[in-house]
Amino acid sequence: MLESHLSALEGFDREVVQAVRMELERERTRINLIASENYASLAVLEAQGSILTNKYAEGYPGKRYYSGCEPVDMAESLAIERAKELFGCEYANVQPHAGAQANMAAYLTALQPGETVLAMDLRCGGHLTHGSPANFSGQFYRAVHYGVDRRTEMLDYDAIAKLAEVERPRLIVAGASAYPRALDFEAFRRIADSVEAKLMVDMAHFGGLVVGGVHPDPVPHSDFVTGTTHKTMRGPRGGFVLTKDEHGAALDAAVFPGAQGGPLMHVIAAKAVCFKEAMAPEFKAYQETIVANARALCDKMASEGFRIVSGGTETHLFLIDLTQQQISGRQAQDVLESVGITANMNEIPYDDTPPTVTRGIRLGTPAVTTRGMKPEHMDALGGLISRALKNMNDDSVLDWVRAEARDLIGNFPLY
Ligand SMILES: Cc1ncc(COP(=O)(O)O)c(C=O)c1O
Repeated sequence: MLESHLSALEGFDREVVQAVRMELERERTRINLIASENYASLAVLEAQGSILTNKYAEGYPGKRYYSGCEPVDMAESLAIERAKELFGCEYANVQPHAGAQANMAAYLTALQPGETVLAMDLRCGGHLTHGSPANFSGQFYRAVHYGVDRRTEMLDYDAIAKLAEVERPRLIVAGASAYPRALDFEAFRRIADSVEAKLMVDMAHFGGLVVGGVHPDPVPHSDFVTGTTHKTMRGPRGGFVLTKDEHGAALDAAVFPGAQGGPLMHVIAAKAVCFKEAMAPEFKAYQETIVANARALCDKMASEGFRIVSGGTETHLFLIDLTQQQISGRQAQDVLESVGITANMNEIPYDDTPPTVTRGIRLGTPAVTTRGMKPEHMDALGGLISRALKNMNDDSVLDWVRAEARDLIGNFPLY
């Protein structure tokens, strides 16, 4: 909640109030290009900060292990029905605490321990929950990975088909954290069918784009679609899974009691609000602008001499390879942060540096688009990023960029 809503906390815990105030100031004054972040509406924040947090509601609407669940049943049923309508799917589970738990639930439904899952390589844009040895998904299952083509830096569906033929996965995962291109779900479906595998699409990043009609729709082609509500969906921090009726009961059991305990009813209510917001025509226009902004910013960076991974973007994000500039992703992240622009270092395909160093940065436009930026503002923004990255050791240039960045974002008030 905002500072105006913190009166009880103010009287009790000034240190936490201070953290919230500092974060509000940070969000208001910095340009946020982290592709997975966004700004939830006040309506979402109010639902998420509501007294629904008090209720234990293990189970599902109408089938709870505790009494007194009628109000939270109402909230969860709204979230489920809105998710089904929004995404045009048969079945929805809105209880996963976040994207990782949504993926865990889908794996628990689709796989037995030790079975094979084929997913995108982390170094090519995949996610830790897609079979990394550091994550449960790589420890409980046999994970094999496809990458991108080394020349085009895009998915090669023939190569994925051949790999599937050799590895015979039970589940194929499509979806990524740092892949700038639209995914071909018909091709993934064909590959899955050719080896009798199930198909799971992780749309944690691009779910909002799907709603907006600016990314292909995975629902008609998939057995499971997992998503988050806090990235391009612009809602509360949370996850969800969509599936067909035939997998509904198994999915519900996988979420609870399989992977989680009591659901976060305040967050589920906020997911219902998020889905309602996403049904409005303005949400489609918002998603269109996210993609147009990403394209405009990407073009500007390319015109400034930066190499764009895969040569462009079709989504809300793109990757810059900083090898030619002889700076690491970490150095770029740090210098941009110092001038008020928040972005994250990111491995580029087949990066040979540690993930704490990297050769690239990932830039995404969902957050700046929420603030009202349009493609015509991307020229100025890209110019600032370029000047900072090309003048990392020149304090007077960095001072100038910092002042300009603050002026620019000052034109787009938040909260
Ligand atoms: C593709 C993908 N899947 C899953 C997740 C996990 O989401 P969460 O951080 O909400 O657990 C992420 C997070 O960045 C992601 O990018």
